Amino acid sequence: MVQFTLPKNSKITTGKTWPKPEGATNVRKFQIYRWNPDDGKNPQVDTYFLDMDKCGPMVLDALIKIKNEIDPTLTFRRSCREGICGSCAMNIDGINTLACIYGLDEIKGDVKIYPLPHMPVVKDLIPDLTHFYAQHASIMPWLETKTNRPAKEWRQSIEDRKKLDGLYECVMCASCSTSCPSYWWNGDRYLGPAALLHAYRWIIDSRDEATGERLDALEDPFKLYRCHTIMNCSKTCPKGLNPAKAIAEIKKMMVERLV
Ligand code: SF4
Ligand code: FES
Repeated sequence: MVQFTLPKNSKITTGKTWPKPEGATNVRKFQIYRWNPDDGKNPQVDTYFLDMDKCGPMVLDALIKIKNEIDPTLTFRRSCREGICGSCAMNIDGINTLACIYGLDEIKGDVKIYPLPHMPVVKDLIPDLTHFYAQHASIMPWLETKTNRPAKEWRQSIEDRKKLDGLYECVMCASCSTSCPSYWWNGDRYLGPAALLHAYRWIIDSRDEATGERLDALEDPFKLYRCHTIMNCSKTCPKGLNPAKAIAEIKKMMVERLV
């Protein structure tokens, strides 16, 4: 029988437990993944306690409070604080989502926060998204035209514009791709739900004139067809989008153009 043993430095250890806030009666426990590439130590889970009477309602509020008042070394990405920039995606209570729009009241018990799964970690809660962004760039996320530029603007009917609803809202947070087992195992070659949702967004844009080339580029056993309709992507998307449906639409177009 084959036996697998994880390398020693991959094991998560119990980290530091920080003191409880003095005099607080409404205290909540936070367990947060920590890893520092510079100290040579294994990843660890640190424990923090917050006075919830003095904390904002969202998970990001708690992280900012911890960083500001307890442990300035805690590292995470954030910017807009309103679900628009996509930078604060992390695994909260077992769900890939955006910390700034995920309410602490949605979590029962202790709050457990990890980086997005199956991605290389830069530090603490920050995943390395270099490959994810390169995959996005590979689907040509821009309008491709061959005819002469119109005098004023590329026009689109209201009906054609509506076809982009549910697609253009994507904030590239990577929650979907990093929740997909197929992407975990084949992320080097499978484009994953986020990049494919964007691919479909440009394929069905009525103004785009490279539909054939776009479909040709996806006609590949890995790039598109490693989607096995597991649906984790649609379940987890914090913007309520449906990447699995977009992928299914691309697969349908692949078949339709053969008949
Ligand atoms: S489809 Fe949703 S989960 Fe995926 S990258 Fe876009 S916003 Fe994030
Ligand atoms: S901080 Fe911008 S999406 Fe959360």
